[in-house]
Amino acid sequence: MYPFDFQHRPAGFEPLENEPIFDPARHLQLERPQTVYGLDELGYSEDVLRDAPASFAATSVFRILSDEGAALLYDTVKRLEDFCTSNPRIARNVRGGVYRSKFLRDLCLSQEVTKFLSDIVGLQLMPHTIPHQLGHLNYNPKTLGENVDKWHVDTLRFDYVMFVTDPKRNQGGQFQYFKGTKEEMAALKAEGQAVPPERIISPDMPGPGYAILQQGNLVVHQAKGLTAPGERITMVNGYIPFDPDYPDYARYDQLCHADPAHVVTTEYSRHAAVQTKRFLEKHLIDQPFSDAQSQSAEHLEHAAEILRVAAEQIRAGKGQMEHFGD
Ligand SMILES: [Fe+2]
Repeated sequence: MYPFDFQHRPAGFEPLENEPIFDPARHLQLERPQTVYGLDELGYSEDVLRDAPASFAATSVFRILSDEGAALLYDTVKRLEDFCTSNPRIARNVRGGVYRSKFLRDLCLSQEVTKFLSDIVGLQLMPHTIPHQLGHLNYNPKTLGENVDKWHVDTLRFDYVMFVTDPKRNQGGQFQYFKGTKEEMAALKAEGQAVPPERIISPDMPGPGYAILQQGNLVVHQAKGLTAPGERITMVNGYIPFDPDYPDYARYDQLCHADPAHVVTTEYSRHAAVQTKRFLEKHLIDQPFSDAQSQSAEHLEHAAEILRVAAEQIRAGKGQMEHFGD
């Protein structure tokens, strides 16, 4: 169960009216990807693999939405386009659409989709508990040729990138990922070198409603600009490991660039509180009777540490926005 209802919306996030009702049976068409890449194939070391919640890196293209589901999502994201904002990485995006659109929210929180993606990753996932990390929408910049998003890694662990518009109608506009580690990308950029074409994977997206899934903090990716006039809209939905023993990967300093001040602190602190609550429930509230002194103390300390780190991040405030450029 998702920990919040959406009855309390931030100021300025009014709900859309007269929306279609999301129906998983009609609107989903979940088809497993043919290929799943591991972090080792990108060159990540044993140490990184040991610390990562899963050895999964990314998938080939797979289908999420039926034709009807894709058409309804397109109508919905067109209604949301008026709410586009900019940040240093992305010229036009809509975040927080899940507060405005119940259709988008129900898709992003869909238990069917969450279970399907968990099976691919090999780890139980849950929709991200920062609502602005759900249903993120990228719209192509007004300037032809300008990249939709620069080379970067995400400040969350798992996300899918799904085409809402039909990529076959466009020239350019590919979603791409780097066959290498983020340290290798940083080294290439530090030396002023171009990314070698043979190390760029450009999945061939057959139509709207198709996606790739990635461990977005470890897979360097970008979204190319269109090379001829057209419309390119993608949706990114974020997930966290269900098991609260995994560390929290959210980055308040980065979120501050993308999200409004009256939203980001509330969402982030609530997310930290939920992570702590789920950890406490697993280890302390639901624990059997025992004399495990040190274990109980460690669990209490761990819960306090989650909150301490979150408070430290909030006090540190906005940081330098991290990306690898175009
Ligand atoms: Fe991303």
